[in-house]
Amino acid sequence: MDDYQKNYTILLVDDEAGIRNVLKITLAHSGFNVLLAPDGDSGLQIFMKEKPQIVITDIKMPGINGIEVLKRIKDLNPETEVIMITGHGDMDLAVQSLQYEAADFITKPIDSDALELSVQKAMDRISINKKIKNYMKDLKDLIAEKDRKIDESKRLVTIGHTIAGMSHVIKNIAGGLKGSSFILEQGIAHENREYLVKGWEMMKGNIDKITNLSLDLLNYAKTSRLNTKDIDPNIPAIEINALLAHRAIENDIDFHVSLTPSDDPISIDKDAINNALFNLVTNAFDSFTTAEPDSVNKKVSLIVKSEKETITYIVQDNGCGMRPSVRQAIFQNFITTKGTNGTGFGLMTTKKIIDEHNGSIGFKTSEDLGSEFIITLPKKT
Ligand SMILES: Nc1ncnc2c1ncn2[C@@H]1O[C@H](COP(=O)(O)OP(=O)(O)OP(=O)(O)O)[C@@H](O)[C@H]1O
Ligand SMILES: [Mg+2]
Repeated sequence: MDDYQKNYTILLVDDEAGIRNVLKITLAHSGFNVLLAPDGDSGLQIFMKEKPQIVITDIKMPGINGIEVLKRIKDLNPETEVIMITGHGDMDLAVQSLQYEAADFITKPIDSDALELSVQKAMDRISINKKIKNYMKDLKDLIAEKDRKIDESKRLVTIGHTIAGMSHVIKNIAGGLKGSSFILEQGIAHENREYLVKGWEMMKGNIDKITNLSLDLLNYAKTSRLNTKDIDPNIPAIEINALLAHRAIENDIDFHVSLTPSDDPISIDKDAINNALFNLVTNAFDSFTTAEPDSVNKKVSLIVKSEKETITYIVQDNGCGMRPSVRQAIFQNFITTKGTNGTGFGLMTTKKIIDEHNGSIGFKTSEDLGSEFIITLPKKT
């Protein structure tokens, strides 16, 4: 007896007792476990109970015919191989059964070589399918593992950039602290009040910077903690105007806020959106410090627009614009062109806030015309 075939169970469904007996002897002799059923109904019962891998069924039977048996078996377990026994003149039925994925046909009177060949082909297909299934599973596991490694290395690269950027900012602040302590020391050594006051002012400025930076970093590192409420989308713009209007006047900037007449509310964390708009508007104000001072009529606009599903906040300036090297990574890296006056953290934080609201942020910029930042937020997050 063949060990390989011993692992296979074949269910034989045929209404003719003679055929059942002959085939059972042939198949059992070849080493298969053989189950017998005299009609479709009992065949299906046995199939559900014993789960044979191969079924051989007569195509024409009283009651449930072979095609119905094939269909139901394929429904129950598509991996089962079903071989149809066809008689002379069953051509139409044979063609129909192809449609339901019959594995093969053997014609009556049954020749034992043809039977063996057909069963052998069914076994080959079962083992190939099993191998393919295993390969697919291995492949899936492999891809999942690779994806995990890629994510991990992306994360490490991001952490690397962040640390590099942060150390640059901290170095700037440390430089400022060193400078101020030098001036203070000079003031103490020479009992010079002017130096003491100047050194102390510088020291305070740097202490503020490091305090703000650590707060920003803490906020940035936190996972989403939005406190969203339905509010009038104009409110953040109104509050930013109240906060920054005087700074605009001091710097001779024509700051204009344009509100939307729509009274659709928006679901946002107001403090977070205020923070984002504050970053964009202060950047717009700063865009005039490097431009030729008095030749331009300095203009900054904050515009609120309501579309069907979204609210848009637009911040425009006619300042210095951004060089290509700056444009590239303003949302990912600590990029600043403001020396010790900037951290390069404003836009990174802004982007994070907008992402947390499932919104988007983009910009257009030109070194001649200025910049425009556009935030789009869904009305309902
Ligand atoms: N409206 C703008 N016009 C010109 N340059 C801009 C504008 N907005 C941003 N930038 C450029 O992008 C850089 C990054 O901006 P970001 O707000 O992230 O940092 P920052 O303003 O330098 O420092 P801070 O952390 O204090 O905000 C700025 O230094 C500036 O070069
Ligand atoms: Mg900024």
